[in-house]
Amino acid sequence: RILILDFGAQYTQLIARRVRELGVYCEIYPWDVSEAEVAAFGAKGIILSGGPESVTAGDAPFAPANVFSLGVPVLGICYGMQTMAAQLGGKVASSNHREFGYAQVRARGHTQLLQGIEDQVTPEGFGLLDVWMSHGDKVIEMPAGFKLMASSEGAPIAGMADEERQFYAVQFHPEVTHTRQGKRLLERFVVDICGCARLWTTANIIEDSIQRVREQVGQDEVILGLSGGVDSSVVAALLHRALGEQLTCVFVDTGLLRHQEGDQVMATFAQHMGVKVIRVNAAERFLTALAGETDPEKKRKIIGRLFVEIFDEEAQKLSKAKWLAQGTIYPDVIESAGSKTGKAHVIKSHHNVGGLPENMQLKLVEPLRELFKDEVRVMGVELGLPPAMVYRHPFPGPGLGVRILGEVKQEFAELLRLADHIFIQELYRHDLYDKTSQAFAVFLPVKSVGVMGDGRCYDYVIALRAVETIDFMTARWAHLPYEFLDLVSRRIINEIKGISRVVYDVSGKPPATIEWE
Ligand code: XMP
Repeated sequence: RILILDFGAQYTQLIARRVRELGVYCEIYPWDVSEAEVAAFGAKGIILSGGPESVTAGDAPFAPANVFSLGVPVLGICYGMQTMAAQLGGKVASSNHREFGYAQVRARGHTQLLQGIEDQVTPEGFGLLDVWMSHGDKVIEMPAGFKLMASSEGAPIAGMADEERQFYAVQFHPEVTHTRQGKRLLERFVVDICGCARLWTTANIIEDSIQRVREQVGQDEVILGLSGGVDSSVVAALLHRALGEQLTCVFVDTGLLRHQEGDQVMATFAQHMGVKVIRVNAAERFLTALAGETDPEKKRKIIGRLFVEIFDEEAQKLSKAKWLAQGTIYPDVIESAGSKTGKAHVIKSHHNVGGLPENMQLKLVEPLRELFKDEVRVMGVELGLPPAMVYRHPFPGPGLGVRILGEVKQEFAELLRLADHIFIQELYRHDLYDKTSQAFAVFLPVKSVGVMGDGRCYDYVIALRAVETIDFMTARWAHLPYEFLDLVSRRIINEIKGISRVVYDVSGKPPATIEWE
């Protein structure tokens, strides 16, 4: 396995995903872990990530010293290269001038890392690589023992290697797809240089998770809160395979779910897969609790609190259960761990449904803790879940509660469900669903004038929202074809009594958020 030390770059998780795509297990540790933790990890190779700091600053992050004395290959990327240079006796110059974007790098001399990896070859026999750069500082003097491996116009020392110690470093980013040979470069490092076997395959992950869950849980009973979202669905499928009847799922139908969602969850898990699922129809309780409330954050709190309360009531009835299963995935773990200094890590705020009762006397089982979302999805399909469920757009925990602006009412929820269903159905039909990252309808409790047949009407407004994004932190509104929007708008107004106007949201994030509340 490979250890990745995180210096705070937004690309660090991408390095880990690339390594895993190669079939090799890896983990991300913050840069300031102790030498003992580094040694205990038992890596066959270490990758130092990029980062926003400058090694020339007084309190710059650096790698634990034993990274360079454990006798394993090390690859420094961007900041990782700079800190490697600085820590081993080279020089780094700081600069306010950033080099950002495409660059061409000449590969010089032969190193095992770059040998035979190139996009073009010059008449003189140099390899040329098209790479992605994003840096200000650069190495201006290599440490003793290193030779030049690559150079570009903006960075004369764009790559360096000490092949005897198997230390390699590149100023560019092999983990982003803009660096065309990036995957081969990482493969060369991880597989050929570090000698890692490609054992991290979906079949192995499933087999291994099943073994571990069985060892952990033994004959005990396990409860899982099933929401219909990807993570809890995959946990349900996995635990069902591992534990069969020992698993009971609790599915709280809040009445704030999408069109026929509750029935679909029951059909997939209970009827089709034979999982024990307790469905709690709690729409009334949620509506009552939300009555009169218009503040978005208060609505979220009410929904979160009631959800936990109901889940807890059900869990009390399952008195034999000793374990609580959760769909925590690796990005949640990395984000909540962060760096001890807190500096090198931007922590994404979580908005999961209220957490779970703290007073519950249950032990936690989290079989997806080491997996990235894309690994979870592949696993879900392999476990027999419908691909449409596994690849569904994200849906917020508070559900339609935050898509009905202002006070939540049963009547509004019904109208919104129908409109949302038409929008999503047409996205699928026009092959646009997978081209958007998240798409949904929003209910606006304002009435606008319309003309229907001979009469005037005065009905509600539906806003359509569709965005494209990688990380949901920033997003651009999806440029859906006008004809498509026209069709969706006509269907919604014609088919749903009570809606007389449809608008399309053309706001990016930032400054707007993806949800309207
Ligand atoms: P925003 O609206 O903040 O949304 O741009 C970013 C992503 O987070 C989802 N979201 C939520 N998810 N509980 C959740 O579980 C929430 O309260 C919540 N609010 C927003 C949103 O759907 C989008 O994917």
